[in-house]
Amino acid sequence: MDKLFIVANLKSYKTETEARVWLEVFKKINENPQVFTQKEILICPSFTLLSLFSNFFKENNLPVKVGAQNVSPFEEGAYTGEVNAGQIKEFGDYVIIGHSERRSNFKESDDVLLNKVKISLEHGLTPVYCVQDKDTLVPENVSILAYEPIFAIGSGNPDTPENADEVAKSFVDKNKIVLYGGSVNPENIRSFTQKENIKGVLVGGASLDGQEFIKIIQNA
Ligand code: 13P
Repeated sequence: MDKLFIVANLKSYKTETEARVWLEVFKKINENPQVFTQKEILICPSFTLLSLFSNFFKENNLPVKVGAQNVSPFEEGAYTGEVNAGQIKEFGDYVIIGHSERRSNFKESDDVLLNKVKISLEHGLTPVYCVQDKDTLVPENVSILAYEPIFAIGSGNPDTPENADEVAKSFVDKNKIVLYGGSVNPENIRSFTQKENIKGVLVGGASLDGQEFIKIIQNA
């Protein structure tokens, strides 16, 4: 059986105080450690919280990985406001690249995204590359994709598991691991993860509550 990826994208939410509350709630998952079997759990908080999350998981022996939601397309240098791949790698192993919110709000082009992928891989970060449909261009060396149709993000209106599976299949045929994202919650997660071509989920809103996120992991 393949491992399931359960990824939380906390987006631009949570102060440090709020993140500490989330972590204390989430820690209770340890009462039921078998939920981790065959799963890769990954939390992607804001840059300001990477160190807090990564230290907390280590100190509490939680088998949970940390990732960033973005990365500079440049190496270290005079790029005011950017966080580079080497800095992220101190705390995390993954990075979300190409989210539709970055493509639309920050005008990230395919060329910029390609640089982000290249530089992330050079620093040992695994990109979780977001695609919006079957035709989204995918950089060659990316191995994990998240299919996130724009209409399903934050809308409470997920894609059908059948359609998501069909889109996933088109990328599985190109040897990619494909996750689904868009209005995933504890009630509908199983309908996606039981599909042949979907190997996990990328969760936004429903991951903001630690208890809700535990339910997602349990129900996957
Ligand atoms: P929602 O789960 O809130 O729809 O967000 C999905 C998403 O954008 C995850 O990256």
